[in-house]
Amino acid sequence: MTAPDPKLMDRVVNLTKRRGLVFPSSEIYGGFRSTWDYGPLGVLLKRNVKDAWWRSMVQLRDDVVGLDAAILMAPKVWEASGHLATFTDPLVDCRNCNERFRADHLPESGACPNCGAKDSFTEARHFNLMFKTFVGPVEDDASVAYLRPETAQGIFVNFKNVQTTSRRKLPFGIAQIGKSFRNEITPGNFTFRTREFEQMEMEYFVPPEQAAKWFDYWVQERFRWYVEHGIPEEMLRIRPHDPEELSHYSAGTADIEFLYPWGWGELEGVANRTDFDLTQHARYSGQELTYFDQERDEHYVPHVIEPAAGADRAMLAFLLAAYHEEEVKGEKRIVLRLDRRLSPIKVAVLPLSRNEKLVPLATKVAAMLRPHFQIDVDDAGSIGKRYRRQDEVGTPLCVTVDFDSLDDDAVTVRDRDTMAQDRITIDSLVDDLRARLSLC
Ligand code: GAP
Repeated sequence: MTAPDPKLMDRVVNLTKRRGLVFPSSEIYGGFRSTWDYGPLGVLLKRNVKDAWWRSMVQLRDDVVGLDAAILMAPKVWEASGHLATFTDPLVDCRNCNERFRADHLPESGACPNCGAKDSFTEARHFNLMFKTFVGPVEDDASVAYLRPETAQGIFVNFKNVQTTSRRKLPFGIAQIGKSFRNEITPGNFTFRTREFEQMEMEYFVPPEQAAKWFDYWVQERFRWYVEHGIPEEMLRIRPHDPEELSHYSAGTADIEFLYPWGWGELEGVANRTDFDLTQHARYSGQELTYFDQERDEHYVPHVIEPAAGADRAMLAFLLAAYHEEEVKGEKRIVLRLDRRLSPIKVAVLPLSRNEKLVPLATKVAAMLRPHFQIDVDDAGSIGKRYRRQDEVGTPLCVTVDFDSLDDDAVTVRDRDTMAQDRITIDSLVDDLRARLSLC
């Protein structure tokens, strides 16, 4: 694999800003470091990423059900989970420029990444990453609550509720998508590391002796998911954690890493959480969190395999992998070769001009397509420019309504990747587009 182009990140960030995918949060106030807002096209793309995850993790499986738990949870949850005591990063300050860094992210040279000073760091302090808030009108110790730093705990505390009401037998999983918050010391690289982000997590409950088998299964399955959704295999790798980097709950973790423009980095983590979380919650809540295995006629605490992905980070990886610049007829073409399921807009309807006869027909075609696909109508500028505008946001298909359409009741369908054009009758357009998009 050739090294990634270091300018790729700037190009993708510029594109996302220019085309309304991602904006800096609170921009009119100068921004709020490390938080981002998703614009009209960004919200569609991120939703498609989450839908694709949900479809393969819940809808297409008979062994996984969904959950949407609250962000604010009883503070005891975080005592039991170990996050209050151990969800920390080592923090150092540069005595020269006062900038703060994660001690485990410092360059080997020992020089301050900001001012270059040597041996200028303070001793590492442990800094808890959870955001604190107060519940109710009084701001005292008794009303402290935390914004969840992972969605997983909402699943563990609901294990009994879900298992009994859905009458699931092991192995089975509970999937959840939702916001998580971490007071990261060094947020950065656009949406890669932020303080507010969305996770897509699934806790897969298994008999203890099957944990190793399911761990391997989920590592492979999750790797395959990214490939199947358009990330080239050579931009992905699996990296098992060294024992010293394992989270406090993990008996083994493997990261699925992506080749970002700055090098390999985590895209998703798959962890063997053993019976740690259920055992801790049983101890702290006084509730029994075991499973009755009818075949074995015994109660035991299930073990858990957890594939934990980030929606924002996955969207960034899909964008980086899809971004291409190429030359077509002597001109630069930017094209996002997104998997069609992820593309924000599926079909763009383009009247050849704003001619008074063409516009009503284009409006009719758009109205016909709208219930079936996320569409866009664009009538501004030359047809070539409009194709380029759709290419750079990854729209797989363009439908052009031209003067011949008035006579032959047909339109031109143009493919983003091949740029091939076919004449299709308006009557058969919905079915034709559906087939091209391979939607069921
Ligand atoms: N429940 C396990 C867990 O939270 P993690 O590796 O800390 O594991 C899982 O997080 C995924 O969540 C990461 O692989 C990443 O995609 C995403 N993620 C974590 N911290 C993030 C941050 N600060 N900004 C954006 N995404 C983040």
